[in-house]
Amino acid sequence: MSSDDNKKLRSRDWFGKKGKDGFIYRSWMKNQGFPPDEFEGKPVIGICNTWSELTPCNAHFRELAESVKRGVWEAGGFPLEFPVMSLGETLIRPTAMLYRNLASMDVEESIRANPLDGVILMCGCDKTTPSLVMGACSVDIPALVISGGPMLTGKFRGKDIATSDVWRFAADQKKGEMDDEKLKAAEGAMCRSRGHCAVMGTASTMASMVESLGLSLPGNAAIPAADSRRKVMAHRSGRRIVDMVEEDLCPSDILTKEAFINAIKVNAAIGGSTNFIVHLTAIARRIGVDIKLDDFDKYGSDIPLLVNLQPSGDHFMEDFYYAGGLPVVIKELKDHLDGDAITANGKSLYENNAAAECFDRDVIASVDEPFQEEAGITVVRGNLCPEGAVIKTSAASPELLKHRGKAVVFENIEDYHERVDDPNLEIDKDSVMVLKYVGPKGYPGMPEVGNMALPQKLLEEGVEDMVRISDGRMSGTAFGTAFLHVSPESYTGSNLALVENGDIIEVDVKNKRLHLDVPEEELEERRKNWSAPEHENYDRGYGNLYINHVEQAHLGADLDFLVGKSGSEVKRESH
Ligand code: FES
Repeated sequence: MSSDDNKKLRSRDWFGKKGKDGFIYRSWMKNQGFPPDEFEGKPVIGICNTWSELTPCNAHFRELAESVKRGVWEAGGFPLEFPVMSLGETLIRPTAMLYRNLASMDVEESIRANPLDGVILMCGCDKTTPSLVMGACSVDIPALVISGGPMLTGKFRGKDIATSDVWRFAADQKKGEMDDEKLKAAEGAMCRSRGHCAVMGTASTMASMVESLGLSLPGNAAIPAADSRRKVMAHRSGRRIVDMVEEDLCPSDILTKEAFINAIKVNAAIGGSTNFIVHLTAIARRIGVDIKLDDFDKYGSDIPLLVNLQPSGDHFMEDFYYAGGLPVVIKELKDHLDGDAITANGKSLYENNAAAECFDRDVIASVDEPFQEEAGITVVRGNLCPEGAVIKTSAASPELLKHRGKAVVFENIEDYHERVDDPNLEIDKDSVMVLKYVGPKGYPGMPEVGNMALPQKLLEEGVEDMVRISDGRMSGTAFGTAFLHVSPESYTGSNLALVENGDIIEVDVKNKRLHLDVPEEELEERRKNWSAPEHENYDRGYGNLYINHVEQAHLGADLDFLVGKSGSEVKRESH
């Protein structure tokens, strides 16, 4: 980049200044040992790092950031790494989703407030991808995602395992088929390398989302974290972001409506997580693209399932990479996608993926011989969910997609835990399990509890799946006939709050219907006696802000005042 071009660099407003201000901006940076020429007009690339030992999926990110830096230096940029709030799915209570929007604020303000010309977003564990992308969209300077990559496939007693097996192990333990010792051994066997969950859970879905949106380099999604080619991808991403600054290629140039529709179709083909819906919607609303809940059905429901990965299928992310990864899926979908959509490397989606080759048809199917004809997420409506609810049909039992059953209601998650294994609980395989107050405001934070584990007595009878309904989410690693994201949520006094034990509920996925078979007059009577449950410990602080401002699931569960973008300009200085 020539010094003439440097006039347009945002960072010149800091490091190019003369006098006292320029002195302060440069001098305090020089205490890190940077030579003076680093401040002479090189593009400053922020490396937005979600490294944390509390986010095990991202614990290798300090090392990965070094590869990014090598690429930035090599391309003539000046890399500066900075930490942002990191959200580890496994440890954070009550749920990492409560903090997705908070982390996105941290990212947005950190980028805007600092002398950055472009930014690398280091994403891994579930929420670290949407929070970083949402924040970057609201600033809209050149941004490129490098994902941390999945773990290697777990190996346990001669079997391949990964996160989806946690649900199976828990069920086996309930049935008395797995003792504590075996369970402990499985812990280490499953998480045997760096990286995020090794199935097509939310983290892998998010990595695939950014690749199909065009926000990462092609091939980014599936490379295992432990594979040296992950570092190569980081290195190349470091090089590329410097060029993106020169080209002024910003998220708003890449994230067109067509790019979002492409991502919806790719997500259907890979059997991606239902969490994709809330995150993609929130990103679209940040960048100003009109994506509605029905679009996920409209564009995704007739897309064939091309990927045979757990939790819906048999294989793991490592196998997906060896089979050719997401580029093969994108190539297979060429008649469905807008291949002209521009991506972060400046090429179109088709240019990037035209030469992709499949090396294992048991992992990635051709579009002519898919694993399932129609695989996307179905949006259902009815008096239980006037604004919609969603179901991942590829993870559900086909025989339960049309069903009538009596509701067994759990008033909250504690009530569920207390009663679900009570031998006296009146429930059978045809019952419909209903869980209230696990929506965005009600929990608060919309946790991944929608795939409630089945009662022990039914598991012992050999029951493997039942219809479940809630306003919560489901882990991307989970499976079952779970209707999720019911909107409006029960905490707002919607009909979900009024369901009682024994009410008949009718589900009919083909006709996109979820109906509470109780007369409207009866519901009105019940509504008169309803009041929202009290929240404990949320009368101040971020939790209070969240409850008062979070939007409903069908809008992406962002905070209402964060929707949209403010750009990158900051006119005032601190000294
Ligand atoms: Fe981090 Fe699954 S816990 S991706």
